[in-house]
Amino acid sequence: MNNRVPIVGVIVVAAGSGTRLGADRPKAFVDLAGRSVLERSLSSVFGMQREAQVVVVAPADLVTEAETIAHHAAGAAASSVSVVAGGASRQQSVALGLAALREAVRIVLVHDAARALTPATVFDAVVTGVAQTASGIVPGVPVQDTVKRVDEEDTVVETVDRSELRSIQTPQGFPRAALDAAYADAALEYTDDAALFAANGHTVSVIDGHQASFKITTPWDLRRAEGMLSAVSGQAGIRTGIGTDVHAYDDDSELWLAGLRWPGERGLSGHSDGDPVSHAITDALLSAAGLGDIGSVFGTSDPRFAGAHGEVFLAATRSRLEAEGFVVGNVAVQIIGNSPRFSPRRQEAEALLTGLLGAPVSISATTTDGLGFTGRGEGVCAIATATVSRQYS
Ligand code: CTP
Ligand code: MG
Repeated sequence: MNNRVPIVGVIVVAAGSGTRLGADRPKAFVDLAGRSVLERSLSSVFGMQREAQVVVVAPADLVTEAETIAHHAAGAAASSVSVVAGGASRQQSVALGLAALREAVRIVLVHDAARALTPATVFDAVVTGVAQTASGIVPGVPVQDTVKRVDEEDTVVETVDRSELRSIQTPQGFPRAALDAAYADAALEYTDDAALFAANGHTVSVIDGHQASFKITTPWDLRRAEGMLSAVSGQAGIRTGIGTDVHAYDDDSELWLAGLRWPGERGLSGHSDGDPVSHAITDALLSAAGLGDIGSVFGTSDPRFAGAHGEVFLAATRSRLEAEGFVVGNVAVQIIGNSPRFSPRRQEAEALLTGLLGAPVSISATTTDGLGFTGRGEGVCAIATATVSRQYS
């Protein structure tokens, strides 16, 4: 806990009804890939570098629900967030949010909850802009389409020079005292806070916005946001891992390799069954999930694993990953050694390990042309890679 009082305040307006979205609940409370639109917006707000007082403006009958969402999103910063009831227009909702700011706040950002995927870096850039210029700062992006002015009959009057145009987003940032004064003076309804601020005689500058900051307005926008989130989890959510294991040949042991018993083949020594394939896979999976390695998780001296076969390690590793919210994507292993000849039992081994892990396992084998310890026939090496991903939460 610290006693510093934030000088930045963020008002997140979420009190609209979402008429154009047409969902069965107000827009900020609609589900967006497993979390509400409001929670996703607040995750960005709490990702800001600077500490901020956060005021959520919610529909009067959803203040309690908004509080639950806000405290969940805020985590350790929960003491800096509050919820107030909104008004009949966006402008009234912002005014009610402004009234809830602490006295120490000097820079105010106003953000539409409906811009659920705005990156936290945009918030930071707006704060910096206001601090440096003491004017209004709004994020904007170039207009992509050709823009035409039309008359009442939809006849084109002119083509507007789009190089002069920007699509303006939120968060919009302002010096607090000037914004308070502008709100106190406002006699008209404006479509954004920057227009109200400029009408009061202040300067507003545009900084780079972000394509992800689009406002969720229609069902089409909601699907676009859902698509972006699944693309993000499909890439950034995948983690890779690597594992290697080596065992020396031992004529007194029977051979266990890739979960199979190999009668008549030269065995490998080891505390467990000496199967380098299972051990390399275990290490690769634990490494992908960031959960340590076979020694730290299972303990090489643990009597439960003395003589244990690969399936014991692999089943235990899979449960451990799943308990942490991971699913196995795939596993690839290469065996390096002179014997056994692996290819006749490749399919059998792949089917067994694929079944144990619930994900595709592919195995290849190679020799090293007589070079190194594997080439001299001293032992067998296995190198495994694995991918895991966190299940969507
Ligand atoms: N907003 C608000 N209070 C209002 C109206 C709007 O806090 N009385 C908020 C919305 O919740 C939204 C943001 O202002 O986060 C931008 O408004 P908009 O996208 O128009 O949302 P809605 O008004 O909810 O949607 P619609 O106009 O389709 O009804
Ligand atoms: Mg509206």
